Amino acid sequence: MTVTVTADLAITLDGCLAGPDVSLDNPGGDGAEPLFDWIHTLASWRERQGMTGGVENRDSELIREWFDATGAVVMGRTMYDTGEEFWGDNPPFRTPVFVLTHRPRPALVKEGGTTFTFVTDGIHSALARAKAAAGDRNVDIAGGASTVRQYLGAGLIDELQLHVVPALLGDGLRLFEGPRPGRNALEQVRVVETPLATHLKYRFLR
Ligand SMILES: NC(=O)c1ccc[n+]([C@@H]2O[C@H](COP(=O)([O-])OP(=O)(O)OC[C@H]3O[C@@H](n4cnc5c(N)ncnc54)[C@H](OP(=O)(O)O)[C@@H]3O)[C@@H](O)[C@H]2O)c1
Repeated sequence: MTVTVTADLAITLDGCLAGPDVSLDNPGGDGAEPLFDWIHTLASWRERQGMTGGVENRDSELIREWFDATGAVVMGRTMYDTGEEFWGDNPPFRTPVFVLTHRPRPALVKEGGTTFTFVTDGIHSALARAKAAAGDRNVDIAGGASTVRQYLGAGLIDELQLHVVPALLGDGLRLFEGPRPGRNALEQVRVVETPLATHLKYRFLR
């Protein structure tokens, strides 16, 4: 079965996925509120965090679409370390998650179907394991910047959705730098425009 590999990211107009000085105490980096605050208002996101309320709008539908379509997730250790406490005992993924790291750690089984497996043998291994776990759904390369750049560089991402928020950071973790992209021609699949973000979806051409 062919599994589609996606990356679905919130990005500032000047191309940042996070602000500068990311740390455990500063998970999104300095000034990152415009990147993430809008997601936290959405009903679909709140549902997955075990919260009630939130706005049911087009943005919320797009986040729900991502949750429904994703059968396994790959992320970097920094995204994991900075998200761990926030996600709590019942993380929003509800799928197997493969964490790229140089620091081995036993797998974790959380409530609600999320498992975290720490992968120390590189991006191809993590992706192969995620594909095997995803069933008939997508594998999402969830972040952060370093991780998505490596998969873009290896030409392993099939679809890229960017939620462009109307904000400039000036400094921070940029998505489009680092390795030369392994695939560079895209076709536009969809544009959804809302006051919160411009949601751009592309498919890489082979
Ligand atoms: N805007 C968005 O949609 C979005 C989405 C996700 C995350 N983020 C943000 O992105 C930031 C984190 O991004 P980041 O670029 O700093 O880090 P990252 O990609 O989350 O993680 C990088 C770390 O993962 C491990 N790693 C990565 N590639 C590896 C490989 N090939 N082999 C072994 N280990 C590997 C290394 O950790 P060790 O060497 O320590 O093991 C590396 O330091 C956070 O601020 C988060 O909030 C934003």
